[in-house]
Amino acid sequence: MASPNGSRILVTGALGQIGTELVTALRDRHGEEAVLASDIREVAGHPAISGGPFIVADVLDWAAMENLIVDEDIGTIYHLAALLSATGEKNPGLCQEVNIGGMVNVLELARIYRLRLFAPSSIAVFGPDCPPLAPQQTPLNPTTMYGITKVAGELMADYYHAVHGVDVRGIRYPGLISWKAPPGGGTTDYAVEIFHDAIETGTYSCFVSAETRLPMMYMEDAIRATLELMDAPADSLGPARSGYNLAGCSFSAGELATAISERLEDFVCNFEPDERQEYADSWPDEVDDSAARQDWAWEARFGLEDLVDEMLANLTSMREVEV
Ligand SMILES: NC(=O)c1ccc[n+]([C@@H]2O[C@H](COP(=O)([O-])OP(=O)(O)OC[C@H]3O[C@@H](n4cnc5c(N)ncnc54)[C@H](O)[C@@H]3O)[C@@H](O)[C@H]2O)c1
Repeated sequence: MASPNGSRILVTGALGQIGTELVTALRDRHGEEAVLASDIREVAGHPAISGGPFIVADVLDWAAMENLIVDEDIGTIYHLAALLSATGEKNPGLCQEVNIGGMVNVLELARIYRLRLFAPSSIAVFGPDCPPLAPQQTPLNPTTMYGITKVAGELMADYYHAVHGVDVRGIRYPGLISWKAPPGGGTTDYAVEIFHDAIETGTYSCFVSAETRLPMMYMEDAIRATLELMDAPADSLGPARSGYNLAGCSFSAGELATAISERLEDFVCNFEPDERQEYADSWPDEVDDSAARQDWAWEARFGLEDLVDEMLANLTSMREVEV
């Protein structure tokens, strides 16, 4: 069944937090028809569905995925389908199945059909033994099932690159902050929810402590990083190619709440940690992204103040349109 790689782009998990914005960015660049969005579910009116071709596909269904690659002339996959950390800890079996099984399928398809592949990793690859400033190369001992699947994904990607020459690339995304789509059940979701509640009710009950500091990034930076990594010449990439550390900005939940209070003076944030505190505590405060800077000239643009301004302005105008 093998044939030369195609010319179109497939995005799996396209209706999620990242896919919502990545599909639009890819269609702006390559044209609507060139980007096929897919997900296991359908959401009426979603921009990835209304803005171009969309197909329902389960990444665990090998036959369906293979037919799709061949019939739809696919040459590149952005593989975003996954279960995130908090959802994954509620159903570790499914997390393992989707994250590892899905990754095995797209890597095998990439090998057979000579596809290019973007497969994201996460700061969840790090465990409690990691220094507060996470180095690119350090022992990876995650304590969540999600983190374990991400380490497995990076190792499998390295293997397929080294043994089969597959052009697979990945980023260890920090917690991503965006206003266009809701977050998908991760531990850093508080950094998005806080904006919605601040605008809608003026209060937020934060599920991690005020002191909790994690690596974060505004979605615009994350999308640009993804496109820049995929644009980078193959010979510029080093041993971090399957999981580049990427720093955006790092702040504590308390600092985020203060930055919002400075703009919405009646805003009150309470801190009531739940089980997600433990996942957050197992991750580093910030990451050293010198490999990404060196290999493909990565540079973040959004700091805490910029992202708070952007989030409040965009969510406020979105709300005004809806009301
Ligand atoms: N958002 C973040 O803060 C963040 C941080 C680090 C890493 N990541 C990684 O980036 C990728 C995308 O994350 P996201 O935030 O967009 O996730 P998300 O949860 O918002 O979206 C994931 C999408 O995958 C789909 N999906 C689930 N199971 C599927 C299956 N079997 N077949 C096809 N689709 C399926 C879901 O319906 C969902 O739309 C994931 O690999 C995630 O681990 C995200």
